[in-house]
Amino acid sequence: MIKFTIITLFREAIEPYLKTSMMWKATEKGLAEFDFVNLRDFGLGPHKSVDDTPYGGGDGMLLRCEPVFAAIESVKAHDPDAKVILPTPVGEVWTQNIARQFAEASETISARAASPRPVATGEARSPSPCQAPEALREDISDASAKHYIILCPHYEGYDERILSIVDYKISLGKYVLTGGELPALIIIDSIVRLIPGVLGGEQSAEIESFSNGDNLEYPQYTKPYDFRGMKVPDILLSGNHGEIAKWREEHSGKACI
Ligand code: ADE
Repeated sequence: MIKFTIITLFREAIEPYLKTSMMWKATEKGLAEFDFVNLRDFGLGPHKSVDDTPYGGGDGMLLRCEPVFAAIESVKAHDPDAKVILPTPVGEVWTQNIARQFAEASETISARAASPRPVATGEARSPSPCQAPEALREDISDASAKHYIILCPHYEGYDERILSIVDYKISLGKYVLTGGELPALIIIDSIVRLIPGVLGGEQSAEIESFSNGDNLEYPQYTKPYDFRGMKVPDILLSGNHGEIAKWREEHSGKACI
């Protein structure tokens, strides 16, 4: 079981997705749990304010430390081992390899809790140019958790001192989003779907794009054979599994994410 507690002002932007499709299935099967904390509940003064203007001037408002620390501490009061993720454009760029490490870390901890014997953590993977930066990977292996608190900043940014309570700063790419809600969903989805039992076939996550670091999935086709003159490659109808595997390997895209 992996748990995510999402600290946000905009629960309504996140919850519908988590109640849909695979994320919902993961919840129903008891493989994942999603919880929300309303940052506004920890706001200051009569208006429950969570932000203020930057020292030194500048546009916009910044998330204040007090509500953020109080919200995180309220979660940690129940689970001191929970780790804090901050989506931010200045974090480490999120990749499939890092998502897998989070998924495997939670599995390893669950297995350890269920069994007094040491549990194998799975085969070592071959190095790939897309692997997480060493620093982050070390953090992940030593601080692996099964409960993550995701803090979703909004407004123009956050007080830098908030970083002192954060375990992982994660960027979803070199662009700026309005808040942490979309990144939170992407981080959660990409981890949860890798947890054994969430996807239909256990092989699905292994075969698909990026599972080997930098392989994009091969082209796939279903019925009809001929759609508006566009035909399925005949090799896929040949029944020759060796040739089909070769064709798929040759037609797999390559990427570095
Ligand atoms: N918040 C705003 N932009 C972001 C990005 N690119 N990645 C993660 N969090 C963000």
